[in-house]
Amino acid sequence: MQLLTLILIALLPVASLARSHHHLSRQHHGSKRHNVARDTQYKLQTKHQGQNFFDDWYFYTEDDPTHGNVKYESRENSQDLAYVQDDGTTVLKVDNKGYVPPGGKRRSVRITSKETYNGGLFIADFWHLASGPTLWPAFWTVGGHWPDQGEIDIIEYVNTGKVNQYTLHTGTGGECKLDPNAGARYRNKDGSQPKSYLGNTLGLQCKSSNGNNAGCAVDDSDGSVGSPFNMAGGGVFAMLWDETQISFWRFERNHIPQDIQDGNPDPETWGIPVAYWSDKGCDIANAFRDHSIIINISICGDWAGAAYDNDHQPGSCSDAVANATNYDFAQIKINHISIYQKA
Ligand SMILES: *[C@@H]1O[C@H](CO)[C@@H](O)[C@H](O)[C@H]1NC(C)=O
Ligand SMILES: *[C@@H]1O[C@H](CO)[C@@H](O)[C@H](O)[C@H]1NC(C)=O
Repeated sequence: MQLLTLILIALLPVASLARSHHHLSRQHHGSKRHNVARDTQYKLQTKHQGQNFFDDWYFYTEDDPTHGNVKYESRENSQDLAYVQDDGTTVLKVDNKGYVPPGGKRRSVRITSKETYNGGLFIADFWHLASGPTLWPAFWTVGGHWPDQGEIDIIEYVNTGKVNQYTLHTGTGGECKLDPNAGARYRNKDGSQPKSYLGNTLGLQCKSSNGNNAGCAVDDSDGSVGSPFNMAGGGVFAMLWDETQISFWRFERNHIPQDIQDGNPDPETWGIPVAYWSDKGCDIANAFRDHSIIINISICGDWAGAAYDNDHQPGSCSDAVANATNYDFAQIKINHISIYQKA
């Protein structure tokens, strides 16, 4: 997400328009019990969970490159913002107690996985996602050289938004376009195959060029993030990234497939994904390399700042940073982030 300024400007009108006119009804699969578990081809590589969670992540303490009103704290200085509860839940949050003057920088955290990936089946289970005016939370993966090693935005939205956006960004690493006509790869349980993905297409060109960094993006349905997601007790975001595809599924807490709960995930049984990039349009193997996982909660900055007015909140985004009450729900609560690889 070094992207920005231009993105936003390019993307926002489209996104807001799309949001008001489309309302996808999502079909839920899962929660069907498989009495006889079959071994899938995916084996657990790493499970980020519990008391040692932060040992596997770096804390980023530079200035926010997207010009946010945020001060990213070190591990030592963020004991109140990044910690593991007794029940094993990992909490990442924005300071909602300290005084910050209008236009100042509020304390937050941004963490980067030490492990890097060239694909895998990523299962991220969140109890809660940050929500509230001025916020820009993100769960994403990126290579060391942006944009040439690519970026995959798995969870991203701003302010009190309730629509998740999945976005790919690529550079010279390989041609990459979202191909909405790539053909359906996954079927629903009843055998139906209405389309290749359920989400709402926002942009087709993944490659950044001539200052156009919008990336190729797909919107999830209303309520996929934000307060509805939180009130449902959170849920699971799943990404399958291999040489032939990058696909996303999302499951509400009450509809998490049994195979995921059993640690034996089988994407073939999950039905049509929310978003699906095929290697027919994108040189996936070359465009996305050596990614770390990043989780951060930014404030204002290029996207949330520009979109702040849409929420009809008082004052300007950077002034609203002074209002600590805005951050009472600025928390990401993680059950686990698990990465599986093909056996
Ligand atoms: C996260 O950090 C990256 C790099 O610092 C930045 O591009 C992005 O805007 C940030 N996003 C959030 C939500 O903090
Ligand atoms: C502070 O934030 C809260 C929560 O978003 C909001 O209800 C309240 O109106 C804000 N106060 C001011 C003075 O803007």
